[in-house]
Amino acid sequence: MSQLIIKDLTVHYSKEFKALDNVSLNVTKGECVGIVGESGSGKSTLAKVLLGLQSFKHGHITFNGNQAVPEQKKSLREYRKQVQMVFQDANSTLNPKLPVWKSVLEPLGNFKEVHPTFLKRGAVSTKELAVALLEMVGLNGDMVDRYPNELSGGQKQRVSIARALSLEPSLLICDEPTASLDVTVQKQILELVKKLQQQTDMTVLFISHDIRAVTFLCNRIIVLKSGRIVDNFPVHELYEDNRHPYTKALIKAASF
Ligand SMILES: Nc1ncnc2c1ncn2[C@@H]1O[C@H](COP(=O)(O)OP(=O)(O)OP(=O)(O)O)[C@@H](O)[C@H]1O
Ligand SMILES: [Mg+2]
Repeated sequence: MSQLIIKDLTVHYSKEFKALDNVSLNVTKGECVGIVGESGSGKSTLAKVLLGLQSFKHGHITFNGNQAVPEQKKSLREYRKQVQMVFQDANSTLNPKLPVWKSVLEPLGNFKEVHPTFLKRGAVSTKELAVALLEMVGLNGDMVDRYPNELSGGQKQRVSIARALSLEPSLLICDEPTASLDVTVQKQILELVKKLQQQTDMTVLFISHDIRAVTFLCNRIIVLKSGRIVDNFPVHELYEDNRHPYTKALIKAASF
């Protein structure tokens, strides 16, 4: 059954301009779906809609059978717990004035009813919890007392991922999470997301302009062009003849 169903979604930023045009998409629980397309194709707009940061007048979205994004306060809170986001710029997620352990525990502080299954039962101190989260994303636990300006870009992005995963979301949306990182670190982050996705069976929507990254990580690829989905295929069909010419152009430009 589809976990996320987007039907005929159209988003206008002005009367004349549609950032998304009649977008329909079904995502099954546990799938890792890549959304690719050039700058301005509407990728972040789609992420913003799913997070409830951008309104829409046309179309319908359901998440686990319920209308998304919920309007009712209680349902909205539940939705926010289940749908987490990793942004391109970790600096916008991490408060420079807070040590890492405080930043990483912020979501769990907001949702005290969540008891992550990756933590052993029993008394766990707050800092131990932060250490466990950092270790889960491959960081050394002794980084908990550092401040964001004492971390590299890749380390900051790992902290953002730890934060997003702390609530054990069932859907993780990543919007260009590796775009500001160098190639080696990009690969490490992709490998991390892949590993965590396989371990937890969460659904991932991974937005990128880099079709190579998406091919490495995802089971399915959606190609957006000028706000429309022009291609939607399982990753093993990447080189099939019937790929959309725009997808072929993206593959060619990426020089696999
Ligand atoms: N708040 C806004 N008001 C008006 N136009 C907007 C707004 N946000 C985005 N747009 C426009 O909508 C289009 C889609 O933007 P969006 O940010 O979704 O693209 P994107 O695919 O994420 O691009 P990028 O790869 O550069 O991040 C662009 O033409 C952009 O200029
Ligand atoms: Mg964007």
